[in-house]
Amino acid sequence: MEVRVDGKVAIVTGGSRGIGRATALELVRSGAEGVVVTSRRMENLEESMAAMVEAGAPRDRLHAIPARADDPEAAERAVAETIDRFGSCDILVNNAGTNPAPGPLVDVDLGAVEKTWAVNQLGPLIWVQRVWHGWMKDHGGVIVNVASVGGLRPAPILGAYNVSKAALVFMTHQLAFELAPTVRVNAVAPGVVKTRLSELLWKTDEAGAASTHPLNRLGEPEDVARAITYLCSEEGSWLTGVVLPVDGGVVGASGTLG
Ligand SMILES: NC(=O)c1ccc[n+]([C@@H]2O[C@H](COP(=O)([O-])OP(=O)(O)OC[C@H]3O[C@@H](n4cnc5c(N)ncnc54)[C@H](OP(=O)(O)O)[C@@H]3O)[C@@H](O)[C@H]2O)c1
Repeated sequence: MEVRVDGKVAIVTGGSRGIGRATALELVRSGAEGVVVTSRRMENLEESMAAMVEAGAPRDRLHAIPARADDPEAAERAVAETIDRFGSCDILVNNAGTNPAPGPLVDVDLGAVEKTWAVNQLGPLIWVQRVWHGWMKDHGGVIVNVASVGGLRPAPILGAYNVSKAALVFMTHQLAFELAPTVRVNAVAPGVVKTRLSELLWKTDEAGAASTHPLNRLGEPEDVARAITYLCSEEGSWLTGVVLPVDGGVVGASGTLG
């Protein structure tokens, strides 16, 4: 089976590095007509596009728009600019995420929690509202939210982050229900993937971090990018409201205690 998104136009938030960049590249390789990457900083986006071109992506299928994930006006502008540039807005990958508040929930700084929840939880809703009203309600489309295994089960050091991802998991079900049959809404729930955001979890002891995953390795951004592209594609056209763990077996293949 070849996974294709021929002729589609996508927005990938947080497309300047990590999972977002790998997803943008995978979508282009799978036939996307245009892929718009967004993040806070244009220089990061320029660097990301240069790396994608280096990896074989045609430059004229890429476009960068600086836009904070939690800014409704920026999202509205980005959707309009995407349609203006490429003629449609068929796919939204809500990937931008942050984790400035590690630690147990009970002790966490409330300002940092607010920031985490604004970007990880309110942000995806902002972008869904803009793509729905700006394009998808009349033309259909596909949305993929990047959640986390941390949104499916508690963990010791990522309290506020995990709560935001649990909210995103439920929001995926709620929006899949509300937007069917016009728009499909799914999520991926990655385990530990080797990116800047997760360095805290693996940098000092990569083998130890890998050993908590039954497949005994950490994820690469491309592992998640391929799953996202499948959920966006025609091959996934009967899937909505799905939260797919992409996690080396953490959720589906971990044994019970003892
Ligand atoms: N890595 C993992 O182990 C893992 C596991 C589960 C889930 N995830 C999720 O995967 C997604 C991507 O993370 P990653 O691991 O690829 O991390 P990453 O390499 O650090 O990338 C994060 C991306 O989000 C952008 N970003 C951060 N804050 C933003 C904001 N306020 N507005 C707009 N863009 C913002 C960053 O761009 P700029 O700095 O240029 O703004 C960057 O492009 C996140 O939602 C994360 O929670 C990651």
